[in-house]
Amino acid sequence: MPKYRGIGVGLLGAGVVGSRVAEFLLAKPSGEGLNFNHHPLTLRSILIRNPQKHREFQIPPELVTTDPAALLENPDIDLIIEVIGGEYPAADYLNRAITNSKHVVTANKEVMAKHGPELLAQAAKFNVQLRFEASVGGGIPIIGPLSNNLVADDLYSIRAIINGTTNFILSSMVRGRLSFEKALEEAQRLGYAEGDPSNDIDGADAAYKLAILASLAFQTRIHTSDIYVEGIRNLHTKDFQYASELGYAIKLLAVGKKGANDVQVRVHPTLIPKEDLLAKVEGAYNAIQIEGHLIGSVMFSGLGAGGLPTASAILSDALGIARHLLSQERAPLTDGVLPSGNPITKTLRVQSLDELKTQYYIRLSVHDRSGVLAQIASIMGDHGISIASVIQKDANLSLGTAEIVITTHPSQEVAMQKALADFRMLPVVDAVESLIRLDTASL
Ligand code: NDP
Ligand code: HSE
Repeated sequence: MPKYRGIGVGLLGAGVVGSRVAEFLLAKPSGEGLNFNHHPLTLRSILIRNPQKHREFQIPPELVTTDPAALLENPDIDLIIEVIGGEYPAADYLNRAITNSKHVVTANKEVMAKHGPELLAQAAKFNVQLRFEASVGGGIPIIGPLSNNLVADDLYSIRAIINGTTNFILSSMVRGRLSFEKALEEAQRLGYAEGDPSNDIDGADAAYKLAILASLAFQTRIHTSDIYVEGIRNLHTKDFQYASELGYAIKLLAVGKKGANDVQVRVHPTLIPKEDLLAKVEGAYNAIQIEGHLIGSVMFSGLGAGGLPTASAILSDALGIARHLLSQERAPLTDGVLPSGNPITKTLRVQSLDELKTQYYIRLSVHDRSGVLAQIASIMGDHGISIASVIQKDANLSLGTAEIVITTHPSQEVAMQKALADFRMLPVVDAVESLIRLDTASL
């Protein structure tokens, strides 16, 4: 009988997340915070890019390599954990690991959003597991529930705060009355936002995560290009103040809705009623609300980023695979994915943004004189948009200017865009300062 050699692990990446994963895999049995004493996972090799880089966690030099083949082609490695990030070479490495019959765990939302269904199909073909719990919401369990615990339900709604960096910035803009620029600086100083924060603040990171969530929840392929994306760069402190006076918080919300034959997927700043649970999610926290015909509404929340929570999700995925490999029955490897290995069972049409019907918050800079409101109301009436409230703010008598803040009843996006174009043509309107969509779905 061959000597039991444990389950060999190859780790791609040893940055914020990878160094934590390595630390725990190499920890002594009583490693603080660990819930597994005698795990069968043996870390055999770690791929990095720059061996000269200073690292707070000292990686045993004998494990370090810059050669991906040392892991991907290594017969002593059964499981690859990928935490290098970015689309390439990560997607190629994952594919290569799978075709070499290695199980894989990844935290990479970009790869899973762009290549997830193909990689899952490939994993099923090679009878290995691909798990990706850490790709959305850091340590929050959400991929497992969507892949397993909620599959019986016809899920029809996702409303989610899934980018911790932007939620931290928005919270600072409210609490500290900071401008966007100052709040971003603070997020960078505290290590929440990266040096180049554009993926977070322009909404791409949330869109990758929404593509993964919506593909799983609605069992239809959602490409990132299907998602309407608007980031938080143009939000102004005034909007937080006015929104608050109207009873709303502003969040970067990822929304997925399923109709009978189509889906709607979008990421944009959104006014949420203050009493909505999502409005209370502060700082770097994430929260995901899922609605289904059987379950009603469920909410998952917690730390959506950071080395420790993300390592928790990755190690749990790795242990799940280990449990499978060690189980007596050797049941077919379907844990974490639907039996086909690919969750896509439907082809639903993706709605264009023009088809959206929702409420809106609009802030206009106008000349402060008689007849202005009547002209604005007339344009809205012409486009079939019904006004819910109007307030005049910041009137400046010497300049003769004011701001008008309007909220609407549910209206068509296409009509709203035409109304905005008409507002811009009005001589009494200096600027359309803000257009923010409202979401009241869970109330
Ligand atoms: P980091 O940038 O901190 O670390 C990346 C690591 O991968 C580094 O060790 C780097 O090597 C290595 N690496 C990058 N490119 C290559 C390459 N081409 N070849 C070899 N090694 C490479 O990233 P994070 O740890 O923050 O993130 C990793 C993944 O986890 C990403 O997909 C991210 O989206 C995801 N994630 C991150 C979270 C977080 O809080 N940070 C939360 C949830 C998910 P070197 O050290 O030599 O530079
Ligand atoms: N940059 C992400 C965020 C963390 O701010 O939520 C990794 O998913």
